[in-house]
Amino acid sequence: MIGMREAILKELAEKNTLLTPGAWKYLDSMDKPLHVVRDMINSSKELPFPVGRDCLVSFVETAEEPSDTPIKVPTKSCVESLDVDIVCDITGNSLCTGELSDFTGHFLNRFEKLRNILSRRREAKGVMNIRSVKKRKGDARIIAMVSDVSTTSNGNKFLTLEDPTGMIRGFVSSESEAFEQEIIEDEVIIAIGRIWEKKNGYDTTLSIDNIVRPSVPKNGRRMISDFDGKVAFISDIHVGSTTFLKDKWENFLNWMESGTDGSEDIRYLVIAGDLIDGIGIYPNQEDELEIKDVYEQYRVLGEMMKRIPSHIKVIAIPGNHDIVRNMEPQPALTEDVQKLFPKNVTFCGNPSMIRIGELKILAYHGGSINDLSDLLTGVDSDEPCSAMREMLERRHLVPVYGKKTPIAPEKEDLLVIEEVPDVFVTGHIHKTDVKTHHNTIMINASTWQGQTDYQKMRDIQPDPGKVVLYDPSTKKAKIKQC
Ligand SMILES: [Fe+2]
Ligand SMILES: [Fe+2]
Repeated sequence: MIGMREAILKELAEKNTLLTPGAWKYLDSMDKPLHVVRDMINSSKELPFPVGRDCLVSFVETAEEPSDTPIKVPTKSCVESLDVDIVCDITGNSLCTGELSDFTGHFLNRFEKLRNILSRRREAKGVMNIRSVKKRKGDARIIAMVSDVSTTSNGNKFLTLEDPTGMIRGFVSSESEAFEQEIIEDEVIIAIGRIWEKKNGYDTTLSIDNIVRPSVPKNGRRMISDFDGKVAFISDIHVGSTTFLKDKWENFLNWMESGTDGSEDIRYLVIAGDLIDGIGIYPNQEDELEIKDVYEQYRVLGEMMKRIPSHIKVIAIPGNHDIVRNMEPQPALTEDVQKLFPKNVTFCGNPSMIRIGELKILAYHGGSINDLSDLLTGVDSDEPCSAMREMLERRHLVPVYGKKTPIAPEKEDLLVIEEVPDVFVTGHIHKTDVKTHHNTIMINASTWQGQTDYQKMRDIQPDPGKVVLYDPSTKKAKIKQC
C-alpha cells in the first residue's frame, strides 16, 4: 500500500489537492484505490481541497465501476460540507482480553508514547536511561515513569522511577522546586538532579531538583483558515431521568430550529457523553427514572434530535451512563442504538480526536476529573478545567491508574494525548467551564439534568442548560443560556 499511497499522493498533488485521513481510510477498503482516484481526477475539472471521505463516497456511489466513462464529481457539495474525520476513535480497535500481561504492554506503550513527547523538549538534552545513570556521579537527568510516591516523616518525598532499563529511587526535598509540582503515580516526567551513590544502606538515589512534564506548546498558535461557522458543545443530556430538564431542552431545540440568534452559524454540534440516564448505573436509580428502558431512552432522544436542522453535523461520544462497556476507552454506541438517530449524527468512541478540516477536537467524557480533584490540591471539581489542564500537562486523559476511573489495559494506550488539540471538551461534572491552556481551549460542556438526589446529598450544584459556541476562526467561545 505504501507504493500505492505515493502514486495516489503524486497524482493528487498534480491537481493541487490531497486526501483527508477519513478519505484514506475509505480508500484502504477498496480493491483498486488508484483506479478510483484516477477516475475521479479524469472526470473532474477541479477537485476540492482536501478531498474528503464524503466526496469519495459520493463519487464511488455515482460511478458504477471504475472505468474510462467520465463521471461528474459532486465537487460543489464536497466544498460546501467539510467532512468529519475521526482519528484515534477506538471503535473496533478494542481487542484486549484483560489478562495481567496486558498491563505490562499497556504501561510500556504509555511510557514510550510519553517519552517520545518528552524527548522533543529542550530539557531532554542529555537524558540517559536509568541503567546508565546509576553508574554515574553528579548531575543526571532521566525520562521515567513514576511508579510510586511516598512521603517521609519530615515531609520530603521518595519516588520509585522506572524505565525499560531499570528502576531508581528518587528523592524530592520539601524545599525543592520539584516539590511544588504535585507528582502523582503513573505519570512520565523528565527528572533533573544529582546522583547520590549507594551508601549507608541506601540504594543509589536521584536527588531531584526539577521535573518537567510533557505539557503542550505555548507558542506556535495554529490558525484555522478553512472553517466558516461555529461549533456548539453540549453534554450529559440524561434522557430518561426524572430530573431531565425538558423545558430547557425544548428551549435549546427551538433555538436550534429557529436559525436565529446565533444558531444560524452552527455547523457542528458535539455531545460529550451521557446521552441518556441509563439503568442500573447507581443503587436505586429506578426511583429516579421516568423511562425505565434504555432503548426507549435512546429512541426518545433520537426523535428529539430530528429537530436539529439536518445541515448541522452532530458528533456524539458515550459516557458512563450510556450502554457501552464502562471501562475507558469506550467504543462508540452500537448499530442498534445508532439506527434510532437521524443520519446527521455520527457516533464516536470515548475518547476521540475529531478532525473537521484543520480543526482538532479532543472529546472525552471526563471520568477522571473526580480522581484528579481527589489527588491534586490545585484541582477543584467545581472548576473542571483545572483538571483538564492537568491532563494536558501530563498528556494523558486518566493520568493515574487504579482510582475510580476503570481503564481497559489495551495494548496501545489510547488515553495518551498524542496530538495537541485546538479544543478539548469534556462533560460528566454537570458544570459549565471554559478556559484556555496555552494554545488549547478547554470546555467542560453543560448538562440538561437538574440536581439529582445524589448531588443533593453531596451539595453539588449543577450548572445546566448552556451551550458553548466556539468560533474556530477567532478561537473564542461564547455561552448561550437556554
Ligand atoms: Fe452525566
Ligand atoms: Fe458521566
